Amino acid sequence: MSWTKKHLLDIESLTAEEISTVLDTARAFKNVGERAIKKVPALRGKTVVNLFIEPSTRTRISFELAEQRLTADIVNFSADASSFKKGETLKDTAKNLEALNADFIVIRHSASGAAHFLSRVVKSSIINAGDGAHEHPTQALLDAFTIRERKGKIAGLNVTILGDILYSRVARSNIWALTKLGAKVTLCGPSTLVPKTFEQMGCRVTHNVDEAIRDADIIHLLRIQHERQRKTMFPSIGEYTQLFGLNKTRLAKTKQDALIMHPGPINRGVEIDSEIADCERSLILEQVTNGLAVRMAVLFLLNGGKGPQEISGN
Ligand code: CP
Repeated sequence: MSWTKKHLLDIESLTAEEISTVLDTARAFKNVGERAIKKVPALRGKTVVNLFIEPSTRTRISFELAEQRLTADIVNFSADASSFKKGETLKDTAKNLEALNADFIVIRHSASGAAHFLSRVVKSSIINAGDGAHEHPTQALLDAFTIRERKGKIAGLNVTILGDILYSRVARSNIWALTKLGAKVTLCGPSTLVPKTFEQMGCRVTHNVDEAIRDADIIHLLRIQHERQRKTMFPSIGEYTQLFGLNKTRLAKTKQDALIMHPGPINRGVEIDSEIADCERSLILEQVTNGLAVRMAVLFLLNGGKGPQEISGN
């Protein structure tokens, strides 16, 4: 199938087939990344603006490298050194980028809906690099890619997402992607951070961590998103770690081949013990590696690429 979308704003509006096309195209780009010459000219002559209004390490660097590998012209926008500081609005900033003929704007913003808003006010293609607690589509795509690569499939797997679900855009995008691809998703964490309403998204909700991880093929951990919580959602970090943190004792009760994921940044000793973060069953850095190929695939498809068959040497 071909991709006809102009923007990547969320996973909710993608079909399973569209998600699979991204994953198949990313597979081909991962092969490209293993060659001596890792660049292809797919975005030659195109301008990409990386508009990161909220901090990021992995997503920002991964997008920038993906754009370089595709031979795009790149502008990195720094909010601190911009006219945001003088009160310019997001719309006016984006209009100025459009006036400079930006073909793509990759936006990270603390407000849910910021990417959808930009897609309505400028002609450039918009890629959501994380908007508030709403969605983080490329994170979910790289997570799905990593699971499929390691387990050979997604349909039928038990995936447990453990932590602060309520404030997590990663959780929402992963729930959409994994349920569309046929995984059985369990959500777990304190009841204040994992309300039963998430069952409406097709997930199982439990507040018992041992039950949540017992049959899991994938345990996907999330940090507490203090920056988005407006009130105290649990008594203390220490109590959270004791009740929900992944440690050696808990890991010993999981399936031998259960794998550990985390989108980063990790808080060692809080949601995950340091030795587990670095153990053989941890895919944390593989997720980062795969993010590059997935973001290349997203840019390629939004630019009119049809799929993996168009990537030379594939
Ligand atoms: N996973 C993720 O979005 O990390 P960054 O905030 O560092 O981009």
